[in-house]
Amino acid sequence: MSTTKSGHTFEEQCHRNAEIQKLFIGHPGALEIHPGKWVQARAYKEYADEYYNFQFEENDVVVSTMPKSGTTWTLEVVWTFKNNPNLDNPMAIQPLNMRTPIIEIDTLIAHIPSRGTFKVMFDKQFPDFDQSHGLFLQLAGMSPRPRTIKTHLPFQLLSSTALDTAKVVYVIRDPRDVCISYHHHAKLFFYENFQGTFDQYVDAFLAGAVWLGPYWEHVAQAWKLRDHPNMHIMFYEKMKNNTKEEFMRLSTFLGTNITDEQMEKIIHYSSFAEMKKRDNHIVGASDAPDFMDMAMAQKSGGFFRQGTAGGWKKTLTQEQKNKFQAWIDENCPDKEIMDNILNP
Ligand code: A3P
Repeated sequence: MSTTKSGHTFEEQCHRNAEIQKLFIGHPGALEIHPGKWVQARAYKEYADEYYNFQFEENDVVVSTMPKSGTTWTLEVVWTFKNNPNLDNPMAIQPLNMRTPIIEIDTLIAHIPSRGTFKVMFDKQFPDFDQSHGLFLQLAGMSPRPRTIKTHLPFQLLSSTALDTAKVVYVIRDPRDVCISYHHHAKLFFYENFQGTFDQYVDAFLAGAVWLGPYWEHVAQAWKLRDHPNMHIMFYEKMKNNTKEEFMRLSTFLGTNITDEQMEKIIHYSSFAEMKKRDNHIVGASDAPDFMDMAMAQKSGGFFRQGTAGGWKKTLTQEQKNKFQAWIDENCPDKEIMDNILNP
């Protein structure tokens, strides 16, 4: 069995979780990375050592999350604090994927013949670029400094320079809202194309069987590092409830000295409504039909779906709520996490 540079091995998911993966007809399933039982796309195997070797630098900001926790919002805010505090940088119209590269996206879309819209766009702009291995990984390496880098990889699978050299912003969101949002995402985007019921998705999420989980292990590894001077933990619920205070704390952590006047404008600029208006920053309008279910986007929202906290209270059935509560009671590593989520 091959071992990665980070000391991990690849294992097949247990029978039950592998069966759950078959409900995602857009991709060929997942591997578990041990120890940790991290669920990664199968192509992760080809990139594991490169991800582990990816060197973070001083002035880099790494935004790390369990998917659907408010990553995109946080990335826009961090990039804006660092590169566009007066909202006059012409680069701001570039897609967020380009301004804030996600290092592991190559593994998530490797199974798509034409690897999604951004690759197509990039091909047109830079026809000579060798994309044969890791377009996004290369982009992350070449990205203009200071870099804002997105990842869903847990720290064990990354170089220690992420925390020792760069700064990390880790965002936590109520797992019930994460699950609802992730289910929407998995149905919306063809690269996942989830065909099961919502109830089946909840079971998959709780079993730690969906890509990039398991949720509590992901949160716990960041939470353990919360006192590290280069680590800043944010809660989506607090960002919603107390945007200015949370953004001020973020600016202090990043040393970006955003003024009060700049902050008011950035809060508006990065609000859900404003980011939704610019949603072709995520998937370009002309490419969107190749990449996502447009009928569903019309009906239940596109990438920018609701942008609220606590939607689970209305969406989940009582039985699902009970399942979640039992799972939270059993797995949440520190009561303080749920206290922060529930009392923002
Ligand atoms: P919902 O599906 O609940 O609406 P991520 O960026 O980690 O994938 O998270 C996506 C979630 O964050 C989605 O949640 C999305 O609508 C929400 N979101 C994106 N931009 C936001 C913003 N500016 N303010 C609040 N929520 C935002």
